[in-house]
Amino acid sequence: MKKLSGKTALITGGSSGIGLATARLFRDEGARLVITGRNPDSLARAQEELGSDTLVISSEAGNLEEIDSLMAQVKARFNELDILFVNAGIVKPTPIEEVSESQFDEIMGVNFKGVFFAIQKALPLFSANASIIATTSVTNQKGVPLFNVYAASKAALRSLVQSLGVTLISRGIRINAISPGPIFTPMFDSLGLPDDLLQTRKREMALKSPIKRFGMPEEVAKAALFLASDDSSYMLGEQIVVDGGVSLL
Ligand SMILES: NC(=O)c1ccc[n+]([C@@H]2O[C@H](COP(=O)([O-])OP(=O)(O)OC[C@H]3O[C@@H](n4cnc5c(N)ncnc54)[C@H](OP(=O)(O)O)[C@@H]3O)[C@@H](O)[C@H]2O)c1
Repeated sequence: MKKLSGKTALITGGSSGIGLATARLFRDEGARLVITGRNPDSLARAQEELGSDTLVISSEAGNLEEIDSLMAQVKARFNELDILFVNAGIVKPTPIEEVSESQFDEIMGVNFKGVFFAIQKALPLFSANASIIATTSVTNQKGVPLFNVYAASKAALRSLVQSLGVTLISRGIRINAISPGPIFTPMFDSLGLPDDLLQTRKREMALKSPIKRFGMPEEVAKAALFLASDDSSYMLGEQIVVDGGVSLL
């Protein structure tokens, strides 16, 4: 028996990296899928890979009107939602002096505000036994230079998962988080670093990790499947760290 047979899952940021690997695994485990992203090329590639049964929607994660429209489209196609993986996120490493108000608002808007309102606006859609998973980051518990706003957005999200864990369980909804360490996804390529510096940074990060390598998105997807399925039926408000031991140092 497949773990997600008959379930409908919405994955934000499902067109790339961790979200796309999770979409593949959820599909293989029998789920009906809705994924979101912004880049039209990534969305088209994801549609081709996941198949025409998957509803692929361009939706800005920090925009409340677009979240409303997203939920309306999910309702129209599937009526109910069993799994919400609020995974879309952005990182913009910046020295403190150079953080502008608009950059601050953008990071908090996508990584925290957008997640809160996606959950709020999905509430009327959830089935009687639903699971929400949020993607935080190991930076939510570490001091990481240049990641001040990003890390704080993920710490706020970690806190939200705890309070919503208590708030939502009376509706039959469990919420948990996954906290990834360095994972090999296109996110690093979007940091705007010159290629040689990017490769050096990646090597340094891998060598600093106890496991001496980056994680693969598929390794995070397995944790998402555990939290999405009834295998984690007694867990709520928790965070699973998938980081090759980075946060132990
Ligand atoms: N990779 C890591 O090492 C790592 C570590 C810790 C935590 N995380 C977290 O993991 C999550 C997934 O990241 P990833 O590594 O898989 O990165 P990724 O490959 O860059 O994927 C990010 C996904 O989020 C979407 N997205 C980003 N901003 C969006 C916005 N404003 N509106 C709608 N969609 C948006 C992207 O779509 P578009 O490309 O179309 O915008 C893409 O589908 C993020 O929350 C990230 O913070 C990653």
